[in-house]
Amino acid sequence: MKGTLHMKPTSPIRKEKLKHGIFITFEGVEGAGKTTQVQRLAAALGPDVVLTREPGGTPIAERIRHIFLTSDGITTMTELLLLAAARAQHVNELIRPALAANKIVICDRFIDATVAYQGYRGGIDLALIHQLNRVVTGGLTPDLTFILDLPPEIGLQRKQRGETHRDRLEREPLDRHRKVRKGYLSAAKADPDRVKLIDAAQSADTVHTAILTEYHKYLSQ
Ligand code: TMP
Repeated sequence: MKGTLHMKPTSPIRKEKLKHGIFITFEGVEGAGKTTQVQRLAAALGPDVVLTREPGGTPIAERIRHIFLTSDGITTMTELLLLAAARAQHVNELIRPALAANKIVICDRFIDATVAYQGYRGGIDLALIHQLNRVVTGGLTPDLTFILDLPPEIGLQRKQRGETHRDRLEREPLDRHRKVRKGYLSAAKADPDRVKLIDAAQSADTVHTAILTEYHKYLSQ
């Protein structure tokens, strides 16, 4: 699933072999700086980028996002099934067609978020989450994932400085956010080829440079 775009001139074999776009995802605890870094990477990679997010990315999935983020009293299993429904729509309607058109798809959160939030934070069986992820994505896995890693208390402080509105998940106790971070750290450990852990406590410029370095390493593989 690796693309022909942005190939280094020294990679002719790779260019011939590969027919699809590149699928990059960003993950992290609340306030880790994903939005900034997603936009900076998109700007650096140029016009072939399709920028999207989960839950959301298509009109139907955005409606599910609204239910997901605003429904107090929602159970974790309902969260999981809403996210799965949104992801099924998003993958089929937007992500797969964009990859088939040789685009670089950059998605703000994807399957690892479900492991971290509904699995580690919410206590749902990880095997079930992996299985559901496989079913709704049809086995599509990101080529490269950046986890912006940060102690959640710092992320939440950053968010509180910048915003007046906090959504349902941001208002949860610190302990829940710590579990999310633990989930992300274990996702990075489980799949180091795909998942790159980036220290998000550094300046935005340094984080951006680290991301670009990993991206170029990926291209030259
Ligand atoms: P955002 O704030 O990064 O846009 O993400 C929306 C929220 O959705 C965030 O609190 C994390 C949560 N989420 C999950 O709980 N599970 C998932 O699978 C995804 C994609 C997001």
